[in-house]
Amino acid sequence: MTIIRGATTVAQDNKEEISFAVKELLDEVFALNDLQKDEVKGFVFSLTTDIHSYHPAKAARECGYDFAPLFAAIEPEINGGLKLCIRLMLLTELSDDRKAKHVYQKGAKNLRKDISEILNIALDGPAGSGKSTVAKILAKDYNILYLDTGAMYRACGLKALRLGIDTKDCEKVTEMLPLLDVKVEYKDGKQHTILDGEDVSLAIRENAVSMAASNVSAHPAVRIKMVEMQREIAGNMSCVLDGRDIGSTVLPNAKYKFFITADSKVRAMRRFKELQARGETVDFDKLHEEIKARDKQDSEREFSPLKCADDAVVVDTSTMDIDEVISTIKKHIQSKI
Ligand code: DC
Repeated sequence: MTIIRGATTVAQDNKEEISFAVKELLDEVFALNDLQKDEVKGFVFSLTTDIHSYHPAKAARECGYDFAPLFAAIEPEINGGLKLCIRLMLLTELSDDRKAKHVYQKGAKNLRKDISEILNIALDGPAGSGKSTVAKILAKDYNILYLDTGAMYRACGLKALRLGIDTKDCEKVTEMLPLLDVKVEYKDGKQHTILDGEDVSLAIRENAVSMAASNVSAHPAVRIKMVEMQREIAGNMSCVLDGRDIGSTVLPNAKYKFFITADSKVRAMRRFKELQARGETVDFDKLHEEIKARDKQDSEREFSPLKCADDAVVVDTSTMDIDEVISTIKKHIQSKI
């Protein structure tokens, strides 16, 4: 008996998602192993406890995989385990010269890093373009982590502000770097930015920190340190990264690259509403000027500027709602998977 393993995840517990994921998984298992119907002895599925809407055996039968016994069972619930996951054990008999090729798709790629490619999605664009909203939704839907690289530059800017260092002073900021301890941790799938042991996830969102982050991010030594950390994280796990230079510098070989942009007034209005909701009082025109100044500084800096990679897909969100943006991006991703 030969066993071929497979696993995938769904973004949501609904019939369409489950049917699509089961078909996609089985199609790839069959194509990759060049399997014929009469070689298959049975299909065994297991599901995480958060899937209730549809039976994967039924989904398999409906898309033509009805020529061998089908069975499905619920897996034990494990703390910290992968969510919304469907696993497959396909029973077959392969001749000695054929080796089973296992298939791990979507979030399940995290389960078998040894055989599946790490999924990195690079999102670049100017401030307020909607990158972080898009990144959070994609990370949730694909069951992978979201790495907010701007938060790392913000933590660096915050440290300089706290130490009373002029954030534009390259020499002084570079001297501070050996003392800078920035870490990224995840709790319940959410990124927490830790500066010198303190969770600064909220403090770094204050408007005053935005320009400081842009200032420190222009210094080469800061970028080298941050890019190294980002590559290390992205090299070890599937994630969506958002920033200014992800597709061009941090991960030039990423398979999925998007440049999210929008008119500066639209972006300023988005930030205005975001800050207002957080209780910060800001003047819209001042905010608009700040956003334009930050765009200019981020795009014109000499070292690793805000840049659309040549092979990135440009998505202008000025007149799109979030659902349209997500479906545009997902269509591109699906077409390249
Ligand atoms: O995305 P954000 O507004 O949180 O980023 C804060 C600043 O950090 C931004 O003005 C430019 C800088 N940054 C960068 O230079 N490279 C990145 N990959 C991310 C952010």
